[in-house]
Amino acid sequence: MTGALREASLHSQPSETLDPKNWDDIRALGHRMLDDMIDYAANIGDRPVWQPIPDEVRASFQAKLPRGASDLADVYREFSDLILPYTTGNVHPGFMGWVHGGGTAVGMLAEMLAAGLNANLGGRDHIPIEVERQIVEWMRLIFGFPHGASGIFVTGTSMANLMAVLVARTTALGRSVRQGGVAENGAMLTAYTSSAAHGCISKAMDIAGFGSDALRYVETDRFHRIDLPALRERIARDRGAGYTPFLVVGSAGTVDIGAIDDLAALSTLCREERLWFHVDGAFGALGVLAPGLAPRLAGIEHADSIALDFHKWGQVPYDAGFLLVRDGERHRDTFAAPAAYLHRETRGLAANSPWPCDLGPDLSRGFRALKTWFTLKTYGIEKLGAVITRSCALAGYLEARVVAEPKLELMAPVQLNIVCFRYRAADNADRVNANIVIDVQESGIAVASTTLLEGQLAIRAAIVNHRTDVSDIDALLSAVLEFGGQRAASREDVVLIDASPPLAM
Ligand SMILES: Cc1ncc(COP(=O)(O)O)c(C=O)c1O
Repeated sequence: MTGALREASLHSQPSETLDPKNWDDIRALGHRMLDDMIDYAANIGDRPVWQPIPDEVRASFQAKLPRGASDLADVYREFSDLILPYTTGNVHPGFMGWVHGGGTAVGMLAEMLAAGLNANLGGRDHIPIEVERQIVEWMRLIFGFPHGASGIFVTGTSMANLMAVLVARTTALGRSVRQGGVAENGAMLTAYTSSAAHGCISKAMDIAGFGSDALRYVETDRFHRIDLPALRERIARDRGAGYTPFLVVGSAGTVDIGAIDDLAALSTLCREERLWFHVDGAFGALGVLAPGLAPRLAGIEHADSIALDFHKWGQVPYDAGFLLVRDGERHRDTFAAPAAYLHRETRGLAANSPWPCDLGPDLSRGFRALKTWFTLKTYGIEKLGAVITRSCALAGYLEARVVAEPKLELMAPVQLNIVCFRYRAADNADRVNANIVIDVQESGIAVASTTLLEGQLAIRAAIVNHRTDVSDIDALLSAVLEFGGQRAASREDVVLIDASPPLAM
């Protein structure tokens, strides 16, 4: 240690810690923050769903690095004025833009408690790890996985899918792949998914070192489900050409229209072909909690791994992604790595191995499990399932209204909670509809998004938020019809459509 450092630490006084000088002051302000955030959730419907960020607000986040201290009350005022009004809007019942959950006050409180504990769930023997294991066990039961299955919280399904690709890789090539790399024995590994699958799977293949070309996109049927004969044919063709198929990723709820692949048939195919069967169930997997929906997910219980998000249909505040792996040993084989400073003991704080750091790339990890535990316990899975059922019923209502409205056109079969439709326009229908979506967003009435279906732009309404009601669907449709009428009448070209839009979410 340098002399200056030693001097500084010697002269530290308790008053120089980061704790408040007066705990009563922070308590009072903390209570106000809590009241304000509970009011925010309770009265969210009174706000615009989203509003454009004024230039001066954006500019205020190009401020100088703060060298000195500021009063917490002043910082909180900045939060209230500059941050709180300009969020995505997914807490609002009128938000149907992307597949975003609405969060709950319960989750918010649990997040505060987790921050208070400041737990690091990379490992060691403390009860927060048992809370995470409790959720793993509940997920094991919900999805009918055997004892020995393992699971872990991650940021989101993009990360969970990447980790599943890595577990499948280690299973296919053996543990030595972790030293030798994927090119070690010259095998050319290939994976398979449908053309409707989420873009993060291609990204996972890229990051895992296979390259995105090693992911074969298989065509879908008219319900956007993977075409099984085409999949079999592609696997056979690849084997014939000297490739080594190792993984099939099925979708339980595609991002564009909510299609669910035939998971039972996929699991049979994977067993016969000796391939790892992973399910991307980002939002759809929790459909098993809805009795009317669960039969459509049949076969998910045979998956080798499942990725899902509690922050979508589970309504847990961001972020709370999750990976469940049927064979925990394969999971640990992929990620566990010895290190002297992570040595395990049978007693003391270094006991309780294996640790979550043996199941993923992260060593430092927050307590995502707590807000999920609070959510599952406070509401119970029946209530959460009822919320999912209701989202699908609302999608059915929106579908019926679209079909009944001559000015609108349904763009894809509604299978779950996502409705793709558009305003009929004689000219430039893509451009007119892109503008309608932006107009609706800027109006603050509702938020929808766009996607491309067979080359045509569709307005996409994803109903995920537990607060969304019939009146929100009606408001979205009225706004689409109103702006549609204006846009169809105007010759103005405001938006240029990008032919390769960013990934839907
Ligand atoms: C089907 C599907 N897979 C993967 C993802 C990515 O999940 P995340 O945003 O949690 O990383 C999404 C996001 O909506 C999705 O819908």
